[in-house]
Amino acid sequence: MGIGRGWRTRHLFFVVIPLVLFLPLFFSVSQLRSDRESVARKPSKKSDHVILGPAAGQGLPNRLQCQGLKAINELHSSRSDLNVSNGDYAVSFVTVFTIYNASRGRVSPADSVTVGKASMSKTERSMAVLNTFVDFIQVSMPTSNVIILTDPASSFSINKRSTTVLPIQGDYSRGQLMLQRIKSYISFLESRLDNQFEKLKHHYIFTDSDVAVVDDLRHIFQKYPKFHLALTFRNNKDQPLNSGFIAVRGTPEGILKAKIFLQEVLVEYSSKYMKASRMLGDQLALASVIKSHLTSATRRFVKAEAFSSEINGASVLFLPCAIYNWTPPEGAGQFHGMPLDVQVVHFKGSRKRLMLESWNFFNSTSNMSDMLCLILKSGRRKYDF
Ligand SMILES: *[C@@H]1O[C@H](CO)[C@@H](O)[C@H](O)[C@H]1NC(C)=O
Ligand SMILES: *[C@@H]1O[C@H](CO)[C@@H](O)[C@H](O)[C@H]1NC(C)=O
Ligand SMILES: *[C@@H]1O[C@H](CO)[C@@H](O)[C@H](O)[C@H]1NC(C)=O
Ligand SMILES: *[C@@H]1O[C@H](CO)[C@@H](O)[C@H](O)[C@H]1NC(C)=O
Repeated sequence: MGIGRGWRTRHLFFVVIPLVLFLPLFFSVSQLRSDRESVARKPSKKSDHVILGPAAGQGLPNRLQCQGLKAINELHSSRSDLNVSNGDYAVSFVTVFTIYNASRGRVSPADSVTVGKASMSKTERSMAVLNTFVDFIQVSMPTSNVIILTDPASSFSINKRSTTVLPIQGDYSRGQLMLQRIKSYISFLESRLDNQFEKLKHHYIFTDSDVAVVDDLRHIFQKYPKFHLALTFRNNKDQPLNSGFIAVRGTPEGILKAKIFLQEVLVEYSSKYMKASRMLGDQLALASVIKSHLTSATRRFVKAEAFSSEINGASVLFLPCAIYNWTPPEGAGQFHGMPLDVQVVHFKGSRKRLMLESWNFFNSTSNMSDMLCLILKSGRRKYDF
């Protein structure tokens, strides 16, 4: 007994008391570490559901502030700057999209994912991204229409108002897709030039289909009345231009100048960058064309402010990606949050799931700012598709 009690007393003294004393410290350190990790650690595992991290840019001026998934400051919508009169052009969105035969044939249950209540195969995922792309445009710019350029051999249908599928002959195989995309853009612009007898009453915005248009972009054409085409840039030495957003003024001159510009990019691509990774060739060619005409380009890309320049006879407007092509930086890059005047969010790489989840969130809350909090907090994650 005595021995037993003695053991218990010693046990109490050496084990329990230190534990009680140090436990709070132990917890706070591991808490601190997990907090710090969630900031610094590069998210590695691809997730099949939305994971929220900290919101970057909290406390900074002109950045979205979030409490949980609630936005606590107002977005600066461009709608207040718009002066819409009857003579105005509408804006059409143009994207290239194709469904591959191979992905359509192979339907294995392992390829299936669940988003919200829907279970989706690979093909269904691609279609969902395309549909969501159109949905966001119809919310943010209800008078716009969408034109989907595609392989005549690719058969899919989309059932949305003001949305048309336009087949353009070409080689849309995976390895050629970025090259083909420029060719399809050029053919499309040529077809608009040939139709000059029709009233040219549309400006065009060529985008990737994994973007969400979250504000009304018509103001660009008013605010900067002189440009023929507009590109988005960022302060990135190797890839300063993103090809996922190109705006073209719908005047005969704008269309012609944009076409000539893209033809130059195409020549550059074909002659120098065919060996580049199939995803990057067009961006490298774009950057190369710009730098060859504009020696000050690199210096001007440092500051996220719009500027214009004459490139081979075309007036080119450079718009900051931070607003017109926003995507959270991957890995440990500097990240100052989301500007309040963000217009376009780009779900690059493994973020397509987030695009669909964001739409579902918006669909149930009808609140764009709150949805942007969701994107801000989860956008650095890699998802399963
Ligand atoms: C969106 O929600 C925020 C609060 O999170 C609120 O302040 C804002 O007014 C809401 N906006 C709309 C359009 O309902
Ligand atoms: C809107 O545009 C019309 C014609 O372009 C112009 O007469 C009018 O003053 C403008 N209104 C505002 C508020 O800028
Ligand atoms: C898809 O398959 C059809 C015939 O089944 C073929 O004619 C077409 O070229 C294929 N398309 C692509 C993009 O491979
Ligand atoms: C949500 O989706 C349903 C069905 O697709 C649609 O009828 C409804 O208008 C959507 N709500 C919003 C806010 O987009």
